[in-house]
Amino acid sequence: MEGRKKRFTSHAGAILVMIGSAIGLGNIWRFPYIAGENGGGAFIIVYLLFTLLIAVPALLSEMVIGRRARANTVGVFRHFSKKKSWHAVGFMMLFICLLTYAFYSVVGGWTLNYIVLSATGSLEGKTPAEIGATFTNFTTSSYLPLIYQFLLIGLSALIVSRGVQKGIERVSKILMPCFIVLLVALCVRALTLPGASAGVDFMLQPDFSKLTADSIIIALGQSLFSLSVGSGSMITYGAFVRQQENLLKTTGWVAFFDVLCAVLAGLAIFPAVFAFGMSPESGPSLIFCVLPNVFNSMPGGHIFAIIFFVILALASLTSTIGLLEVLVAWSVKERKWHVNKSVTILSLLVFAGGVLCSLSFGVLSDATIFGYTIFDFFELIAAEYGVPISALLTAIFVGWVLPKVELQDELSNQGSLKIYYFRFYHFSIRYIVPLTLIIILLNSIFSA
Ligand code: PHE
Repeated sequence: MEGRKKRFTSHAGAILVMIGSAIGLGNIWRFPYIAGENGGGAFIIVYLLFTLLIAVPALLSEMVIGRRARANTVGVFRHFSKKKSWHAVGFMMLFICLLTYAFYSVVGGWTLNYIVLSATGSLEGKTPAEIGATFTNFTTSSYLPLIYQFLLIGLSALIVSRGVQKGIERVSKILMPCFIVLLVALCVRALTLPGASAGVDFMLQPDFSKLTADSIIIALGQSLFSLSVGSGSMITYGAFVRQQENLLKTTGWVAFFDVLCAVLAGLAIFPAVFAFGMSPESGPSLIFCVLPNVFNSMPGGHIFAIIFFVILALASLTSTIGLLEVLVAWSVKERKWHVNKSVTILSLLVFAGGVLCSLSFGVLSDATIFGYTIFDFFELIAAEYGVPISALLTAIFVGWVLPKVELQDELSNQGSLKIYYFRFYHFSIRYIVPLTLIIILLNSIFSA
């Protein structure tokens, strides 16, 4: 219990924890395949623009209110407003975390299985068809994916139960640097393959003809999801940031590393995909079905396959920690549950939803909700609608409900920092962020 009142011990610690939440399957699994499907370079430019103009101000806002109120997602809104409707935004974030954790842990579990498959050489010497069949057999089976998913949820539970300093911060300080070193190593390997330049061209040469209204919506959703905005993770972590930290700097580092890792993931994947004549547009199964072929035909591929899936697992673990901490911080404070009780009950609840998501690839594939499988439905509600809606409401709250002086005071560390950017930031959170989100949300609702 004690540990929960504490702060992150250092600037680097705070940044590594937040980077851990931000960098995840969104960067390495989702970003490369959606960039591949939506025109590569052109999509990346739009994604970068949204990150800078929308996601970064939204992230900064979450951190500011989290640190100011030093509270969980619901407590933050209660701290600033008596209106129940605002408290509901906090609950909405909890709901988004629950759903996100449920579908996210399915793919996170797959990554653990792929570490085992690549370490035991089970994917070696197989034809592309066989590798595809391995993926389908695994994901559609009932027990094995659940075991791995349970393992991932259990690991996060263990770390979160140790508290913010001794669990989350300590683990992030070890895992995140390992993650970045491995990712860079993988990139160097991919970029030095003969024929790699076609993959680099694909990523960096924009083909604007492939950009559709849909891809613009996807780019916005990705920029928010990737920075963990809208889920309350950054509010919750913001509450642990020390008073002397410069929040703009922290936000800048988190955004920088998040974008860097997404681009590095692309630079590790596409050159290899092109060098071995595979398709960059194979969708969600890109990294599970296409990459193993690439590793098979690459010198030293065995080792790089293991490295790749370890990276992926690390990235998912530090993100699931972020999701669980949002829920635990709330239940410890608001429900007055002991940490261990909170972690156990909430993890089991997530697992219950996660089981449904996992089985929706197999025995429950016919159980659809509005035409979506359970996995897709959870993703749709949480990531595609939930995140932009909660980011929109938070922007309105910070821009219009919160007194400007309070915002200024917190961002400037009670006047001790010069915050030249404040006018731009405030304008952006009042107008640019909400208006863009409204336009894009309306568009996606009407085009659905
Ligand atoms: N940002 C994470 C990713 O890119 C996902 C995430 C969302 C994690 C919300 C925590 C909270 O994979």
